[in-house]
Amino acid sequence: MSRITINRDSCERCGRCASTCPSGVLVQQNENIFPDLVHEELCISCGHCVAICHKDAINHPDYLPGSVYLVDRERLPSFDQTAELLRTRRSIRAFKDQSVAKTLIERIIDGARYAPSGHNSQSSEFVVVQDKDTLKRIAALTVAYLSKTKKQLGNPLLRRMLLMVAKDEIRGVLHLTGDFDRIVKDADEGRDSVLYNAPCLLLVHGARDTNFSEVNANLAVQNAMLACQSLGLGSFYAGYVASACKRDNSIPLLVSLPEGHQIFGALCLGHPKFRYSKWMARTAPKVQWL
Ligand SMILES: Cc1cc2nc3c(=O)[nH]c(=O)nc-3n(C[C@H](O)[C@H](O)[C@H](O)COP(=O)(O)O)c2cc1C
Repeated sequence: MSRITINRDSCERCGRCASTCPSGVLVQQNENIFPDLVHEELCISCGHCVAICHKDAINHPDYLPGSVYLVDRERLPSFDQTAELLRTRRSIRAFKDQSVAKTLIERIIDGARYAPSGHNSQSSEFVVVQDKDTLKRIAALTVAYLSKTKKQLGNPLLRRMLLMVAKDEIRGVLHLTGDFDRIVKDADEGRDSVLYNAPCLLLVHGARDTNFSEVNANLAVQNAMLACQSLGLGSFYAGYVASACKRDNSIPLLVSLPEGHQIFGALCLGHPKFRYSKWMARTAPKVQWL
């Protein structure tokens, strides 16, 4: 049974659908004939064919009327506005003691799901943590993970063994042990240098056996950060939480992560206590032009 149909009364045979289909499902042999549908099972439901057809001649079961919208170019930000958004986004680690409204979090997740994903798998799923006790437990479990890792790396025999199996990764972590000490010490003295008392933590996860699940999750996080920025919220990437989730099962268990899933990205967010009035130049990019 055909999934996609082309209305021959309205199709102008312009070939745009065939040119933009990433899976070679729509094929136009020459410009005077209607596009053909071949190996439809390879369709990734990206919707490009529907979005590009200016005659609405393509019917796709995943993009029924009501799920397709016209692009309003007047509402798109200019390059200058986009550049300003990108340059002025900073990690925010000082938050007001104020929860984030559910409607705002929903808008952030809505922005996150428009990130690209490998083969349009849209694999990213979200856990929103706002419960204060759960936030505290996640921070404590992350501190415990950092403390355990520091101890393991302090054992010369274990360190040598770990370096043998994962040299680059362990060398990267060895540079951070001073930071681990700081975070553990802060926790001992009652300061939260993991979540910085953020009122909300967004965990982004996906199935381990989905191609590019990790990349998809982190692209979603970046979209979420920019959505936060445009909503006047502050955020920072909670990398230590993400590392703890990757190498220790305590946090995934605490948040009842589905079987076969992994947390790949973590974002703390909240209402910022302060606003930065300046942005600074970044180091010049190292670029090789070929
Ligand atoms: C992969 C990754 C992990 C990070 N982990 C943490 C973290 O655990 N804690 C933290 O406070 N900031 C973390 N950050 C934020 C960085 O420190 C921050 O992005 C960087 O210093 C640049 O500052 P900016 O975000 O204000 O531009 C992380 C960022 C990335 C991309």
